[in-house]
Amino acid sequence: MEKIFLNDLKIGDEIIKFDRGWMETDFLSHKVRVDNTSVIDRLRRNGIEYVYIKPRNEEIRKLDDLLEGKSSEIINELKEQAPAFQLNLKDLSHASEVYSESVFIVGSILDGIRNGGAINTEAVKHVSQSITEMTLKKRGVLTSITKLKQYDNYTFHHSINVSIFAASLATHLGMSKKEIEIAANSGLIHDIGKMLVPESILNKPGKLSEEEYKVMKTHVIRGYEYAKKCGTPAEELKMIIEHHERHDGSGYPYGLKDEQISIFGKIGAVVDIYDAMTSDRVYHKGIAATSALKLMFQWTDKHINKSIFEFFIKNVGIYPVGSLVIMATHEIGIVGKMNPANPMSPVVVVFLSKNGSRMPIKVVDLSKSGIDAQKIIGLINPENVSVPPEVYKYIDNMNTLA
Ligand SMILES: [Fe+2]
Repeated sequence: MEKIFLNDLKIGDEIIKFDRGWMETDFLSHKVRVDNTSVIDRLRRNGIEYVYIKPRNEEIRKLDDLLEGKSSEIINELKEQAPAFQLNLKDLSHASEVYSESVFIVGSILDGIRNGGAINTEAVKHVSQSITEMTLKKRGVLTSITKLKQYDNYTFHHSINVSIFAASLATHLGMSKKEIEIAANSGLIHDIGKMLVPESILNKPGKLSEEEYKVMKTHVIRGYEYAKKCGTPAEELKMIIEHHERHDGSGYPYGLKDEQISIFGKIGAVVDIYDAMTSDRVYHKGIAATSALKLMFQWTDKHINKSIFEFFIKNVGIYPVGSLVIMATHEIGIVGKMNPANPMSPVVVVFLSKNGSRMPIKVVDLSKSGIDAQKIIGLINPENVSVPPEVYKYIDNMNTLA
């Protein structure tokens, strides 16, 4: 739910709660639909200053409903809209090659910087061009593999993931190919300043002290200065310097507010937060994608720009790869593959029977018709279910083997 002041209410909004108890108003219920302006006048007469409404964005509303357990209607609705489109294994195999090659190249670029070398701009360009090409040709294929890899080096994978998500989000925002490439490119180098922060702080397991955190925050300025010195074009510097700025001015290094942050800075902030939250680190496990989206939704218009975030949800879908789900059959599975044309209808790898015991792996493709009995009815907290390694391996193979 979102907090809205009366002046910002729109016809069609569904109010769920007032800013005061119901005894203090002449409304019988707090659940009121704003059908016309007289509803707003009545709220005003009651002295109400703000209300809480159901999220306006369709995808966010669905996410909200889903977490409240109303997924079956949503799945049905989306199934009707689902175009006949299937992810093709050849694309996934190619995506996996692009990803692995990127890890290798970005790894050597970042290592080079730590050793005092210049940024290999040609290599960065090569990687960002492959990411851009792939994103433009096959929407969603690359984003669907970002969470499948076992992370040996967080910073390398994080840079590539940010680049992939940034390029994909730029595409969804309708930006030009040149701009998508800038997003991909700056995503790759957004955190290069971390290579200039002492490794003892960068890789410290556990919480940083206040002093250490101060040093960590310097990665933004360090990265910016370094990239500038290496001749990085001005528009590619924006994500480096602005990805920790926040919508309400609470970010760093300059405390810029929304209107002062460039589009690349806003994209950088959203995708950086999402990837950091959902990734496994040395000292903690990443949280489920859906929980991350839900938390981020609560931060919109505080830390992150709301419209950019709404596009991002459309981009990753509400069942990203790796989400644990419960099916109508009460079997439990894990989302193994996204369907770029319809992120609500992924391929689910079912591995637990309805009584919770292990069963042979069963693959359910929700985008195929005639499997109503197999729909997803809810999400499962990953802390409650442990996924056997062979299931992850199966998903990995499913996504890499042609
Ligand atoms: Fe950063």
